[in-house]
Amino acid sequence: MVSFIFLFFLLVAPRFALAQPSSIEDNSCITCHSDIWEKEVQGSVHARENILCQDCHGGDPTKLDFEAAKAPGTGFIGIPNKKQIAETCGSCHADVEKMNFYGIRTDQLARYKTSGHGKKLYEQTVPGTAMNDKVAVCSDCHGHHKVLPIADPNSPVYPLNIPKTCDRCHGDEKLMSGFGLPADMFKTYQSSVHGKALFEKKDLSAATCTSCHGSHGAIPPGVKSIGEACGKCHVNEKKYFLESVHMKAVEDGKFSECISCHGNHGVQVANKFLYRTACVQCHEQESAAAQEGEKIFQILGQSEGELKEAEVLVKQASIEGIFVEEEQGSLEEAKTNVISMAPLQHSLSSARISELYDKFAQVAREIKSRVREKRQVLKWRKSALIPIWIFIVVMAIALWVKYKRLKGH
Ligand code: HEC
Ligand code: HEC
Ligand code: HEC
Ligand code: HEC
Ligand code: HEC
Ligand code: HEC
Ligand code: HEC
Ligand code: HEC
Ligand code: HEC
Repeated sequence: MVSFIFLFFLLVAPRFALAQPSSIEDNSCITCHSDIWEKEVQGSVHARENILCQDCHGGDPTKLDFEAAKAPGTGFIGIPNKKQIAETCGSCHADVEKMNFYGIRTDQLARYKTSGHGKKLYEQTVPGTAMNDKVAVCSDCHGHHKVLPIADPNSPVYPLNIPKTCDRCHGDEKLMSGFGLPADMFKTYQSSVHGKALFEKKDLSAATCTSCHGSHGAIPPGVKSIGEACGKCHVNEKKYFLESVHMKAVEDGKFSECISCHGNHGVQVANKFLYRTACVQCHEQESAAAQEGEKIFQILGQSEGELKEAEVLVKQASIEGIFVEEEQGSLEEAKTNVISMAPLQHSLSSARISELYDKFAQVAREIKSRVREKRQVLKWRKSALIPIWIFIVVMAIALWVKYKRLKGH
């Protein structure tokens, strides 16, 4: 009998029934607040798990009487303030035991408290003074009633929607000026290479606000951690940057890794002309450092030029009917060399780039000489045909004359 009751609770008792009853029809909160239920809560990820009004607001859902449902002692908190929201959401989401079943992370609240937002919310210099209620808390990013799975394209934290979600506050000039922060990130981001990839190509692997800032640990990526943000995705550039002369400057706090050259919100497609504009922001035009930059600029330019030349040559040859399959293969190899120069130049070592250039240049030279050779052979073959043609024409004329003569008789 005992085990039967146990089994009954195991199977029938909802996993999150903090207060009875669990059924929607018997829930007095829903009876009175049917509009909120139908329009907002019903379709949420929580309702699906039978997490209802009282699980977030407290109160007694068995009482249909207004006073009794919200009496002291029922834990009713009304509309929660921001700190209560963090604690309420955290009461489940930070509880490993409760969330274990679902296999989702339980570090959101802990991380949140370390973020720029969370620190501000929890920072109370004078006990009892108002907390900062302008920062983002769980419900500002996820919504409060219609919380959706993060992978749902309608979720406010789905990659395509994140910039807009942040922009609700970070684009509000009046709000942001109160914190001494600019309010133009969204616009700048929108026109960046990442913003274009996200919005125009729907490329979900492009950086959004939270890829660089973190979502729950949304702190401004400081001078020390910024390379980690970019380097998470641009692994090779990061690797070579670590070997560059600027690492010491980074340690001394004089250089902000990637953003010193690329900027942050407005990162654009990069090309070699960055060497002409970025280096001189910190180094004198005539300095050894700027000269090193100029040297790399020249090598990059030269490889681009030679690659193009080889490409044009191979293309022309194929149009002329020369068989260049082999050269097309070598061309791919040369192209790969030139492409790998872009990450390698982050080592800022003209010696290493020269080394790669030499390898490339040899392949390019081989392609060019082979194509020229083949063209020569073709030319020779064509000229070898001329006597044969003359012979055929002469023979044709002779035959014709002979025929005429025979006919004249
Ligand atoms: C008898 C009907 C009734 C029941 C039962 C009821 N409510 Fe309400 N509730 C109301 C009314 C009426 C208001 C006030 C309307 C308003 O301000 O919009 C209200 C207001 C609220 C508010 C806003 C509080 C505020 O401070 O403005 C919350 C949150 C709330 N109810 C949650 C609940 C929860 C949770 C339950 C179940 C435990 C519940 N209600 C049960 C009728 C009810
Ligand atoms: C997952 C937690 C959660 C659940 C479940 C939940 N609420 Fe709320 N509710 C909140 C939070 C958080 C706020 C405050 C939002 C804010 O101020 O930004 C809120 C706000 C409200 C408000 C104030 C008006 C508004 O919409 O902002 C009412 C009324 C309310 N809830 C009633 C209900 C009722 C009724 C249910 C059940 C049908 C319910 N809530 C289910 C978290 C929840
Ligand atoms: C500044 C916006 C922001 C705030 C504030 C925020 N979240 Fe999130 N949350 C996100 C984003 C973006 C994701 C998407 C996945 C990711 O980046 O981790 C996410 C993912 C989640 C997930 C899915 C599991 C996971 O970790 O990937 C849960 C659960 C969650 N958040 C709960 C919370 C709770 C609880 C709070 C409050 C303590 C909170 N979030 C505060 C933006 C936020
Ligand atoms: C009573 C416990 C409980 C409370 C309170 C609660 N949640 Fe949840 N939450 C859950 C459970 C259980 C799931 C479902 C997990 C699943 O289905 O994978 C969930 C799912 C989520 C998800 C989707 C996670 C994903 O992997 O896509 C988000 C986002 C989320 N909750 C945010 C919040 C926010 C924000 C609050 C506060 C306003 C909150 N939760 C309050 C228990 C809770
Ligand atoms: C509800 C409004 C709100 C939302 C939504 C919001 N923020 Fe904030 N955020 C703030 C406020 C207010 C501050 C200023 C707090 C301070 O001075 O530290 C802030 C501070 C920050 C900071 C620290 C800036 C600094 O230098 O101190 C970063 C980074 C940040 N937010 C990123 C984000 C990202 C990324 C998102 C979206 C995922 C987001 N925020 C969503 C209100 C919001
Ligand atoms: C490619 C990475 C990246 C993306 C994407 C990105 N940020 Fe930033 N953001 C940074 C870096 C790096 C800094 C720090 C700048 C510095 O230290 O000079 C920063 C600074 C900030 C600050 C502090 C402002 C300041 O000037 O002190 C806020 C707020 C912020 N970002 C919000 C956002 C929002 C909102 C989005 C999305 C619309 C976003 N960021 C997208 C990298 C990024
Ligand atoms: C979440 C991954 C991610 C993060 C983080 C990220 N990026 Fe990107 N980045 C991309 C993707 C994907 C592209 C390719 C976009 C496209 O389709 O053009 C890209 C493109 C670029 C480009 C242009 C590449 C080209 O071909 O010229 C530069 C430069 C760049 N990122 C620099 C940065 C910097 C600097 C940071 C840090 C402040 C950063 N990225 C952070 C994913 C990321
Ligand atoms: C000293 C200036 C400088 C710094 C610091 C720098 N870059 Fe670059 N980056 C450049 C230049 C110049 C190019 C263009 C090279 C070309 O056209 O071949 C470039 C190209 C790129 C590209 C596109 C080409 C490619 O590699 O595919 C990406 C992505 C990139 N950088 C990411 C980063 C990241 C991530 C960091 C930080 C770890 C970083 N950069 C640091 C100057 C810099
Ligand atoms: C944000 C400023 C900044 C930018 C931009 C910058 N550098 Fe530097 N660079 C430094 C600092 C700081 C040092 C370290 C000087 C020291 O420790 O005395 C340094 C050192 C160097 C050195 C080591 C030799 C020396 O003069 O100390 C070289 C080489 C160098 N940079 C090349 C470049 C090149 C090439 C570029 C452009 C692609 C560039 N730098 C862009 C700040 C910068």
